[in-house]
Amino acid sequence: MAIKDKTVDRAGEKTIENSTEKSTEKLTDKLAANPFLVANFAPVADENVISDLAVTGTIPEELEGRFLRIGPNPSAKPNPKKYHWFLGTGMVHGLRLKGGKAEWYRNNYVLTDNAARDLKREQLPYPRKTHGGSVNTNVLNIGGELYALVEAGALPMKLDGNLQTTAYSDFDGTLKGAFSAHPRRDPVTGELHVLAYEPGKKHIDYLVVDKAGRSRTAAQVSAPHQPMIHDTAITPSFVVVLDLPMTFDLVAAVSGKFPYLWNRKQPARIGLLPRSGDVNSMIWFEAPQCYVYHIMNAYEDGGKVVVDVVKNSTYFDADVIRRGITPPVFVRWVLDLPTGKLSETQLAEQAVEFPRLNDSRVGQSYRFGYTAQFTANLQFGSAYKHDLISGETQTHDFGSGRATMEPVFVAKTNAVAEDEGWLLSYVYDQNTNRTDVVILDAQDFESAPVATIHLPVRVPFGFHGNWVADSDLNAF
Ligand SMILES: [Fe+2]
Repeated sequence: MAIKDKTVDRAGEKTIENSTEKSTEKLTDKLAANPFLVANFAPVADENVISDLAVTGTIPEELEGRFLRIGPNPSAKPNPKKYHWFLGTGMVHGLRLKGGKAEWYRNNYVLTDNAARDLKREQLPYPRKTHGGSVNTNVLNIGGELYALVEAGALPMKLDGNLQTTAYSDFDGTLKGAFSAHPRRDPVTGELHVLAYEPGKKHIDYLVVDKAGRSRTAAQVSAPHQPMIHDTAITPSFVVVLDLPMTFDLVAAVSGKFPYLWNRKQPARIGLLPRSGDVNSMIWFEAPQCYVYHIMNAYEDGGKVVVDVVKNSTYFDADVIRRGITPPVFVRWVLDLPTGKLSETQLAEQAVEFPRLNDSRVGQSYRFGYTAQFTANLQFGSAYKHDLISGETQTHDFGSGRATMEPVFVAKTNAVAEDEGWLLSYVYDQNTNRTDVVILDAQDFESAPVATIHLPVRVPFGFHGNWVADSDLNAF
């Protein structure tokens, strides 16, 4: 919308419109060429601390912690010809719940070196040099501390309980290279399993981070073609390695664009790496040509390994901003160990992304998964609950003009049933240009929310978030 700045011409009496309108229209036209800079993808200008939050319904009293989210929020004016969602400076958003009350909402930039430069703030300490680029993809607790995470090289950044970035971290010297935005926590051992890559390195690091937050490199998998590996999954025996045809492109990197592109020449494969780190015993399966950002879960079933993924038939096949995409589809890959063959079945007809489950089922057979609607033209919308035994998908429609980001499952205390818990999500309302945090009862998924916390601001569409209970943190 153009900004009208009406002023009075002092020489005469006519009202004129300031040139701001024309220049704003031009700017809007330019930005409209880039879908990641308009509507609720656009960055917000302010960092906030808001304690007076309106609530509809009843917040469950046992939810005591922070519901965190992270996404890109450029800290300097981006170039619309080059800017991609994946590149923007990170911003963390959080809602503090305690005793049935919403105590505060906060949002802060993740203060990487580049962000500090843009915002004219002091750079934060780091244990070893890192590239200073955005840390914008996930936020979670590791070893009782909060971290903002990204893949492809930048160090994790430590946050305090008020979501202020305090330092770069290499986990007390134990993280020797890159990390990932998608560590997979084993609910049995509490360890994190991580696949990390970075441009210029021709291998993938398999890292294991213990409950105290110390990392060790358990294996290195050769990958001279430098694939982009966004997510992983675990089973009791294996780590799942997605080696798909999106690879590092030096020309794109040098020109300042997103440096990974669809690579038609590269075969697609999926590997099962023994959790012992024995790379010589790794088992590879030919996979469909596709790109997978996210895995819902994986588990073992006799001589088979089941891997449930959100599959994009291509990605970044036209150009990086337009993507050349098809709708992301939720599918099951069954890897048959005796035959070495992969078979695929579709699990839902909807276009979905950001798959989550009850985290206590990670690596084990499971029944329920949760996703957000996400179409080929970047439209968020409803939340879905997938029953992977009955094949039924339930829909929670948040209302006209309302769209959820990734829904996060939080189990109730002493829950017995797998879906006995709440689903928390940040829901953007284009009618008000504000965001609500909505709490659903996962067992009564299609009904009205249990509670809605109304934020007086909007939270831009971003990537990932987690519920971090106070009991997960060393200090809060
Ligand atoms: Fe992700």
